[in-house]
Amino acid sequence: MKLSGQVAIVTGGGSGQGRATAVLFAQEGARVVVADINEQGAAETVHLITRNEGGQAIAVRTDVTKASDVQAMVDSALRHYGRLDILINNAGATLFKGIEDTSEEEWDRIIDTNLKSIFLCCKAAIPAMRQSGGGSIVNIASVAGLIGMPEHFAYCAAKAGAIHLTRSLALDHGREHIRINCICPGGVRTPMLAEVIDINNPAELERIGQQHALGRIAEPEEIARVSLFLCTPDASFMTGAVVTVDGGIAAGRMGRVQSR
Ligand SMILES: NC(=O)c1ccc[n+]([C@@H]2O[C@H](COP(=O)([O-])OP(=O)(O)OC[C@H]3O[C@@H](n4cnc5c(N)ncnc54)[C@H](O)[C@@H]3O)[C@@H](O)[C@H]2O)c1
Repeated sequence: MKLSGQVAIVTGGGSGQGRATAVLFAQEGARVVVADINEQGAAETVHLITRNEGGQAIAVRTDVTKASDVQAMVDSALRHYGRLDILINNAGATLFKGIEDTSEEEWDRIIDTNLKSIFLCCKAAIPAMRQSGGGSIVNIASVAGLIGMPEHFAYCAAKAGAIHLTRSLALDHGREHIRINCICPGGVRTPMLAEVIDINNPAELERIGQQHALGRIAEPEEIARVSLFLCTPDASFMTGAVVTVDGGIAAGRMGRVQSR
């Protein structure tokens, strides 16, 4: 098992990629704190983990945009498991709207959930990781942080911020053996994608899939496996890295220039 003896916090662990990551990390021997604003979703993830013999996890209701909640999340990890080694900043929210239709509250919600949350979680977790002798942080950004997308400006700006926050924090904490990397997924089959397309409609899936060089979207487990890699000694010389796991969206534009 690749994470034996380690303690991991996964934010947004009650759904989609966060759930897949929490389950995979527990299978690899980690004790997992499943933190989510959706208490029921977090409890369901814990059930998935603990119904398998030996899986250890707790659910902690956390709003990652609130400093007091985030500190309580880290305190819970320390109280239950005595240390902290891994933080997956995965909680996020999306919005597809043009600028004139976007309210100040919507802008704040998208920036706070996708970017401020990483500031708050890292601020609370890094002292605990230092006490454990080091650690690994993975920030889940998006391909939307690398390329612009129509009517997606708030989310794109937040995810671009998450990428650069990753790089700067990596410089500050490398000597403390805390590695900080980020992942930029492309389309992933989760409830978030279901907010914007009908993921049960094969034609819609095909349309979104065709924007990727691989011709399809990802399953949540395909992103979780890259987070796992980043948290193991296999990635021991990686920090400040931006790992694109996007099926080729950011590689360039799909569609031929030549007509024949
Ligand atoms: N699905 C995609 O196509 C896609 C692509 C690129 C990046 N991402 C990013 O991947 C991450 C995971 O998203 P997902 O696709 O699994 O979506 P999801 O909607 O299935 O999961 C997001 C989780 O975050 C939680 N959350 C939202 N606001 C929160 C808050 N304030 N405090 C705590 N938890 C909160 C939700 O309750 C939910 O459980 C997000 O950061 C998202 O932006 C998703």
